[in-house]
Amino acid sequence: MTILARVETRGAHAARLLGGTAPLTRELVLGALRWQLTLDHLLAPFVRGGLAGLDGLVRAALRVGLFEAQRLDTPVPIAVAEAVRVARSLVPRAAGLVNAVLRRAVAADWPDPGDESLPLDVRFSHPAWLLERWVRLLGAERLRRALTANQTPAPLAVLAAATDVAALEREGCRFEPHPWVDGVLVVRDGAPAVATALAEGRAYAMDPTAVLAARCLPDVAGPVVDLAAAPGGKSLVLAHERPASVALAGDRHLGRVAMLRRTLRGAVANPLVFAGDAGRPPLRPGGFGAVLLDAPCSGTGTLRRHPEIRWRLDAAQVARLTVLQRELAAAATGLLAPGGVLLYATCSLEEEENAGVAASLRLEPVEIAGRLPAAVPRIELPHGGLVIPPTEWGDGFTVHVLRNPA
Ligand SMILES: C[S@@+](CC[C@H](N)C(=O)[O-])C[C@H]1O[C@@H](n2cnc3c(N)ncnc32)[C@H](O)[C@@H]1O
Repeated sequence: MTILARVETRGAHAARLLGGTAPLTRELVLGALRWQLTLDHLLAPFVRGGLAGLDGLVRAALRVGLFEAQRLDTPVPIAVAEAVRVARSLVPRAAGLVNAVLRRAVAADWPDPGDESLPLDVRFSHPAWLLERWVRLLGAERLRRALTANQTPAPLAVLAAATDVAALEREGCRFEPHPWVDGVLVVRDGAPAVATALAEGRAYAMDPTAVLAARCLPDVAGPVVDLAAAPGGKSLVLAHERPASVALAGDRHLGRVAMLRRTLRGAVANPLVFAGDAGRPPLRPGGFGAVLLDAPCSGTGTLRRHPEIRWRLDAAQVARLTVLQRELAAAATGLLAPGGVLLYATCSLEEEENAGVAASLRLEPVEIAGRLPAAVPRIELPHGGLVIPPTEWGDGFTVHVLRNPA
């Protein structure tokens, strides 16, 4: 509950705070964040004065207690008693309130996702402003699939080329090939052993759609630079699949540059990794056959892994991010040789962070739909970009490939 309260009140990242915690803690924290709007909808009638007036720890105790009672196999009285016990230890005066509210809320009906008489935000626990955008972008069927995926824990997937699969299988792990993305294995058994291998650098976890985004880079003449490269997933894919392509990979943040170096060490004999601001890249203008810019973004395609993003973000923040994205994309464009291509990608579905940025550049769209396996759902954008919506098989991404006509 302290983790949940820190995520809500201090802007902490849940996934970071959860490193090394027990699977049940993880499930409770991520579940309570994922279902926050629905949980609050069920709790609100029993809280005089409203949930917003409560101490953050008390709100967290109510959400976790109700999530555990309604959504996990824990017997209801045990889930309630545990929430009351933790509330008593953190905010002793609130234990009675947590007990009284939970005892009533556990009897409420969980909203049926298929019941169209209920508002979409209550059924799928997403903020209304985001749903309004996604209804327009995705249409009803893809939207429903995306929302369902966002409410389900993401399976762990690894990049086969960067994972000692045979050794892990000997340790009892079981993998299944990803249905759309060659070279990606979904972990079906043995997640703890895979987690150890990830920490030791014997495996590399990557979202399958991120692999597809890297593969959208066409073959080019001339060196390739990845400007916002850490932790290094896309550079790693390219290093394995097109060893001659990635010449340089950089990132602005020093700690993340160290991660990037670690990621590439096994794949590239002498990784040329640098620390630098992609807005002022320390590189020769006009010298590159391709530039990868996987830009810092709102992350609205990654809500199943980072459920808290939806509660922090608003349209004004999305608009503010585009200032940086346009600046980085313009600087990346300056590095392109004549005929060179920019791969501009984000794990955001939002129009202004993607098509809006692409349209601000004096570059020509390059067709990329043919680079994706046929089964991958996608929405084609006017400026040649593709949105890959979130599904049960991968995060959401938007990719543009643009050529310097000069
Ligand atoms: C979406 S992540 C990149 C993920 C990476 N391409 C991968 O596949 O693993 C965006 C990265 O941009 C970096 N970043 C943010 N602002 C930057 C800037 N001005 N210059 C360079 N890197 C920046 C962040 O540190 C972060 O590592």
